[in-house]
Amino acid sequence: MNRLLIDTDPGEDDALAIMMAAAHPHTKIEAIIVAAGNVGLHHTTNNAAVILDRLGLDIPIYAGCKNALVQNTQDASHAHGLDGLGNTGYRSERTIESAHGSAEIVRRVNAEPGELTLVTLGPLSNIAVALHLDPDLPFKIKRTVAMAGAVTGHGNTNVCTEFNVFADPEAAHFVFEAWGAAGKMIEVADWELATRHGFTKQDRAGWVALDTPLSDFFAAISAHSNRFIEEFRGRTVNFFADPVAMAVALEPEIIKRRAQHHLGIELNGGLSRGQTIVDWLDASGRQANADIIQEIDHERLLELALMAQR
Ligand code: BDR
Ligand code: CA
Repeated sequence: MNRLLIDTDPGEDDALAIMMAAAHPHTKIEAIIVAAGNVGLHHTTNNAAVILDRLGLDIPIYAGCKNALVQNTQDASHAHGLDGLGNTGYRSERTIESAHGSAEIVRRVNAEPGELTLVTLGPLSNIAVALHLDPDLPFKIKRTVAMAGAVTGHGNTNVCTEFNVFADPEAAHFVFEAWGAAGKMIEVADWELATRHGFTKQDRAGWVALDTPLSDFFAAISAHSNRFIEEFRGRTVNFFADPVAMAVALEPEIIKRRAQHHLGIELNGGLSRGQTIVDWLDASGRQANADIIQEIDHERLLELALMAQR
């Protein structure tokens, strides 16, 4: 059984990723930890609950950090809607657990060292705080898969950065450095991978044609994002990044090409704060901390996304 801790800031693409995990055989979502990111924590926490309501799943939800470690930035409500789920306004009455998300990650990972896979779909604030609580965390996590970064500077926020890293660069710095120091690697599903595995209008029409409660739900929460990319980005292919990362977490055999290098985070930089700097030539001699996923089996990704909405 592939047992997942999902740290997420839903987000319609986070929603599809969670739906994929829920639909996947031999996968169990142990807990959802909520990050602030796409929108504020009160919205992302509600959204996680809305998603689980729609899935009819009884999985505990823990709210994490409200703020970035050092400096808050703009959210991504322009792309995801003011509520993060496309301005649908869905509300959940589900009870949120009282433990803080970071403390809960530490508790669960220590209760079962080597058993849990961590999938991060949002800014890394919760993981950074968990690391401060338990610096040995990287040794005790089975696999870590992160939707993070833009490995050659082709980003989606401030030109060269990717939103999840841009939103809390210090957190990403702590996390990548700690994994490297432990001799561990984070499997990085970055924005550029997502742009190579976008979802066409035709793919999305196939989901709508399923005409199930889950496909209706995803159509409703993604309508704003589909409009946004057409009107403001001038393209019809939607790059849902989190499902690509989730596909890697669910089925490692989906990976077709990867490269392992040191990945650092620019914390200063007039133009480049939050950029992921990859040592492609291994010139620094630093321990590789990133297993950068460069290509996956696209057909299988499409199958997983479709399965999630049946
Ligand atoms: C990432 O940023 C968010 O807007 C998405 O949910 C995804 O996690 C893509 O850069
Ligand atoms: Ca996300």
